[in-house]
Amino acid sequence: MQGFLIVFEGVEGCGKTTQLKRSQDWLRSRGLVECWGNQGDETPVVVTKEPGGTSLGLELRQILLAGQSLIIQDRAELLLYAADRAQHIEEFLKPQLAKGAIILCDRYTDSTVAYQGYGRGIDLRLIEQINHIATGGLESDLTLWLDVDVEIGLKRARERGIADRMEEAELAFHQRVQQGFRELAALYPERIVRIDGSQNEEGVQLEIQEVLRQHLWQRML
Ligand SMILES: Nc1ncnc2c1ncn2[C@@H]1O[C@H](COP(=O)(O)OP(=O)(O)O)[C@@H](O)[C@H]1O
Ligand SMILES: [Mg+2]
Repeated sequence: MQGFLIVFEGVEGCGKTTQLKRSQDWLRSRGLVECWGNQGDETPVVVTKEPGGTSLGLELRQILLAGQSLIIQDRAELLLYAADRAQHIEEFLKPQLAKGAIILCDRYTDSTVAYQGYGRGIDLRLIEQINHIATGGLESDLTLWLDVDVEIGLKRARERGIADRMEEAELAFHQRVQQGFRELAALYPERIVRIDGSQNEEGVQLEIQEVLRQHLWQRML
């Protein structure tokens, strides 16, 4: 059976990593059984991230997210993210999907549109082409957009620890990124589901569980 690719998207500090882990715990403990009856136990539930879902990707992540010491031109940045993605798809996503895994992935193509397109201002058609080259057309089955006010997200991210190269960018940049996610969600309502990320962790998780139940259930029909 072909697996299922679920992507978590949103601005810095919106709760992607937190909710991804909680979703994995829930799916593994009782979520799959709630979604599918007793067929859950054989299905692997794996987590991964972009950038950094492979050994090469971890090296690229270091380069992309290290502090401001490294100057990376916008198109170079775009291509480094694309290289990470191409590697991730061949080495991890495709083989896992072939095994029937449910993959929970921290960021994917929508982040490239939001950050390099809306944030950096690179032509959106170019981004689409690069995304296509990197993915070979592999889209997420479901994308959860954790929508939280940019300032709240950045505050959470800063409290978490030292800011990375993206978090250090100016507020206006993050607001453009947020606008990108908003427009993507409006454009692809079948694939992208908005989650209210301003709730407490438990509230966000319950909303996600409801969406996962609906989508995984439909998948079984
Ligand atoms: N719903 C929430 N309310 C308050 N703080 C949260 C919430 N979700 C996550 N956090 C905290 O905010 C910080 C950023 O969350 P994280 O999951 O790392 O976000 P992201 O991966 O989207 O950048 C972490 O310290 C986390 O514990
Ligand atoms: Mg994170």
